[in-house]
Amino acid sequence: MMSRKTLILASLLGILVASGCAVSQSYKEEELGLRKVDLYSEKTVVAESTAYSSVAAGESKVFERSFENAPPMIPHDVEGMLDMTKESNACTGCHLPEVAEAVNATPIPKSHFFDMRTQKVLTEMSQARYNCNACHAPQSNNQPLVKNEFEPEYRSKEGVARSNLLDTLNEGVK
Ligand code: HEC
Ligand code: HEC
Repeated sequence: MMSRKTLILASLLGILVASGCAVSQSYKEEELGLRKVDLYSEKTVVAESTAYSSVAAGESKVFERSFENAPPMIPHDVEGMLDMTKESNACTGCHLPEVAEAVNATPIPKSHFFDMRTQKVLTEMSQARYNCNACHAPQSNNQPLVKNEFEPEYRSKEGVARSNLLDTLNEGVK
């Protein structure tokens, strides 16, 4: 009969051989990048052009959300809107709750009218939310280099198209 030690050694050897077979295809270091060009040379790299939506706000189709309470991405043209200044923020012009419905835009949610530091509800939108495109960004229509297999699971049907972070933020916190 085989001793325990020999058995362990034999199975380790088996694993080694099996994993050796699995990685029989080898890559040169220069080939390791996702781009199909020399990893160490930028000379032949041609970046894909950026193609943001040119469909006007009000006529675009919203993007699928990435997961429950993920910030939705901007589906419409933002030409001229992202020169945001202290005096002028085009986004609030359509997305503030009091105007959103009239223009068919998704209203800015409750979480943006809340001070996360003091845990207080605000009467005006939090200044921490002023720079919308820090979190909501236009998306360029390009083919991803690696397919994303992630599939979100939503706890409620509404979560697919609406967020409710402020209601769920403290779930599980005692
Ligand atoms: C002229 C009105 C208008 C302006 C200005 C505007 N939006 Fe929109 N936005 C809309 C409408 C309407 C939609 C819904 C999609 C559509 O009909 O095009 C929308 C959709 C969105 C969505 C997707 C919402 C969802 O439920 O998926 C985001 C995010 C967004 N806008 C962010 C912004 C940001 C950030 C700015 C400023 C850079 C901005 N919008 C400026 C009207 C506007
Ligand atoms: C610090 C990041 C951040 C900033 C800045 C920010 N948002 Fe959001 N936004 C989020 C996140 C995260 C969500 C989804 C979770 C939630 O409800 O807060 C969201 C949700 C939204 C939604 C979807 C609401 C719904 O019911 O589905 C709209 C519309 C929106 N934001 C508009 C804006 C606009 C317009 C601005 C600028 C005035 C802005 N946001 C600034 C992070 C941000």
